[in-house]
Amino acid sequence: MLVAHLKQGRGSTACVAERGAARHGFVLSRGGWGRLMIPGVALEASPADFYDDLAEDYHLIFADWNATIARQAEVITGLLRAEHGLLSGRVLDASCGIGTQALGLAAREFEVTASDISAVSVRRCAREAASRGLSITTAVADVRVLDVPNAGEFDVALSFDNALPHLLDDDALTTACVALRRVLRPGGVLLASIRDYDAIVQQRPSGDPPRSFPTELGERISFQVWDWLSQDRYTLRHFTMQSSGGDWAVLERRTAYRALTRPVLSSALAAAGFKNIVWQMPDQTGFYQPIVSAIANA
Ligand SMILES: C[S@@+](CC[C@H](N)C(=O)[O-])C[C@H]1O[C@@H](n2cnc3c(N)ncnc32)[C@H](O)[C@@H]1O
Repeated sequence: MLVAHLKQGRGSTACVAERGAARHGFVLSRGGWGRLMIPGVALEASPADFYDDLAEDYHLIFADWNATIARQAEVITGLLRAEHGLLSGRVLDASCGIGTQALGLAAREFEVTASDISAVSVRRCAREAASRGLSITTAVADVRVLDVPNAGEFDVALSFDNALPHLLDDDALTTACVALRRVLRPGGVLLASIRDYDAIVQQRPSGDPPRSFPTELGERISFQVWDWLSQDRYTLRHFTMQSSGGDWAVLERRTAYRALTRPVLSSALAAAGFKNIVWQMPDQTGFYQPIVSAIANA
């Protein structure tokens, strides 16, 4: 028996738990905080379900989300300007989440379309754009398909902060790279960032350390546990501990990752029709993950 404090919100607590188990095989869910005894453990959720569930709280993984948005826009526009001579143009952010990259670029000289497989994240990205007076076209789309307006006409495609490692095998990865190539005009630029898995697979770390944030309810602590299933596959267990009225509530969410190394992603990009595939490390860009850039073949 797992003793849990459940979030309540859309529907009653019991309803949410039952729906979570049936639809997602996923125990804990959404909304404000309540308390419930739940049998079993959290099962692995699809990326869409995992990020749908996180979307309203996602900004809390950053110490200051607005500052992060501005800093990342500085890095990305700096790369586009310095390496590709692009000061403006059409950008597709193909794994936009709640808009960490899309919002910053839309605040600059770029015309942004933002898509993601998580419908709740996309809705929040649209809401954040509206609240900032920014114009962003949004779409719910799998990066393997990218059925978005103006496909084939984008100057830039983005996939930042470790979205591509959610694709668990070579077929899925190649399909996504082909879709990213297809949405770009010939000569268009792809920029993507992933964790430094070349180093990570050597060490197979057991997770990410705890971080603490103040919230309206009280202190919130989150940390990750990584269960390695093979050399390049792990289950990420995302724990959130919320303090409220002297009590701690714990949520666990799980999703699957591939430890995607740079040579594997470079090969998939080349096979999909990209050239000039170049990796830049954090000490070169100031970004916290390695970034790959690639040019769409004519
Ligand atoms: C770690 S989040 C990063 C989001 C955003 N780029 C940011 O930095 O805040 C990874 C994102 O990849 C998205 N994602 C995972 N698999 C996807 C897929 N097959 N198609 C489109 N988006 C996907 C998730 O929904 C999630 O929003």
